[in-house]
Amino acid sequence: MKSLSGICLICCMLLSSCNLFHANKLEHNFYEKTCPNAESIVLEGVKKAQQQEARLPASLLRLHFHDCFVQGCDASVLLDDTSNFTGEKTSGPNNGSARGFEVIDQIKSELERTCSGVVSCADILAIIARDAVVLSGGKAWKVWLGRRDSLTANKTASNQFIPTPTSDVTTLIAKFKAVGLSAKDMVTLSGAHTIGQARCTTFSQRLYNQSGTGKPDPAINKDFLQSLQQLCPQAAATGSSNFLAPLDLRTPTHFDNQYYLNLQAGKGLLNSDEVLYTTTGFTNQHVGKYADDQEEFLNSFRKSMIKMGNINPLTGKKGEIRNNCRFTNSGL
Ligand code: HEM
Ligand SMILES: *[C@@H]1O[C@H](CO)[C@@H](O)[C@H](O)[C@H]1NC(C)=O
Ligand SMILES: *[C@@H]1O[C@H](CO)[C@@H](O)[C@H](O)[C@H]1NC(C)=O
Ligand SMILES: *[C@@H]1O[C@H](CO)[C@@H](O)[C@H](O)[C@H]1NC(C)=O
Ligand SMILES: *[C@@H]1O[C@H](CO)[C@@H](O)[C@H](O)[C@H]1NC(C)=O
Repeated sequence: MKSLSGICLICCMLLSSCNLFHANKLEHNFYEKTCPNAESIVLEGVKKAQQQEARLPASLLRLHFHDCFVQGCDASVLLDDTSNFTGEKTSGPNNGSARGFEVIDQIKSELERTCSGVVSCADILAIIARDAVVLSGGKAWKVWLGRRDSLTANKTASNQFIPTPTSDVTTLIAKFKAVGLSAKDMVTLSGAHTIGQARCTTFSQRLYNQSGTGKPDPAINKDFLQSLQQLCPQAAATGSSNFLAPLDLRTPTHFDNQYYLNLQAGKGLLNSDEVLYTTTGFTNQHVGKYADDQEEFLNSFRKSMIKMGNINPLTGKKGEIRNNCRFTNSGL
């Protein structure tokens, strides 16, 4: 294994393009000497959060995704807006939606007490994402570590790179390709919607006026449609646009392959979910494969999560280790 990574390093130098080998810059035992309890401290924090609220593991998993798709996995998503700084928290995909930041604060301050100035917020997000999956019943993986934290955020990029729930398959594939992930990664990582919840506003158009037809999306199962219309009345003025529906109506807090079975039954919640099944070809075939084989899904999921976690990390002397995940150390 050592000699293999040596050869890869040489390939990288020759090709002067190490995109495929991002993982080489990260390490499995990065904090072994400097903060040996880092991962157990994070795990305890996620466990506590889950006991506090069953939805939190889902919210935390999503933060790692929203971090990695915007200038790489660098904790840019965690920076607060201030009077002279605009972060990503008010972007379309995040505003009124991204949550779990207090859990990160708690874990970070615990880590600062134990090993001050050592563990990055970007790594905390990556470890949390793994723990959120495992505590929900998914399979574990070893998290590559050594990411550093950004000095910046980019709201424009957050709006541009994070896919919207009304997307079709072509758009979804393109958005994943843009950050170096494949169509298969896209179908696999969408399986994260086996846990967590979504607001009416993210899927209401499917219930009343899909693609400007004045009619519901014909792909929705009739009973499912009725129950969603009851939850989300058409008049948005009632405030109902913030009501919540589970992304997986059958097992909303359990990390399993039920999401793909739902899609086959016309019970996917978001347009971006259901189209994976209704669009013939690659994505439909993969939905079938995962619906038939939970092991296959869970194994593929951890591979794709590792890939997502390796998107453009800051390493070496780039960036910094934030003292507080909400602010850069210079106080921006
Ligand atoms: C394929 C493109 C994707 C789209 C269009 C999408 C869109 C969305 C939307 C609209 C919501 C509901 C937000 C709200 O109403 O507040 C949501 C929730 C969620 N997403 Fe995605 N998502 C995608 C991929 C992913 C990926 C790759 C992951 C993680 C690996 C993920 C994890 C989650 C989780 C766990 C939730 C529930 C969060 C909670 O309950 O707080 N999603 N997503
Ligand atoms: C930005 O504002 C914060 C307080 O909100 C302040 O501490 C910091 O010095 C300011 N930075 C710049 C570059 O003006
Ligand atoms: C964010 O959402 C709040 C309501 O939840 C709204 O008042 C505010 O204008 C939104 N901000 C942006 C930048 O869209
Ligand atoms: C922010 O992202 C946009 C869109 O990707 C990009 O054009 C712009 O250069 C970025 N801004 C900074 C300061 O990096
Ligand atoms: C449906 O949406 C389209 C625009 O996408 C709009 O022109 C039309 O008036 C809407 N129809 C209804 C019944 O709301």
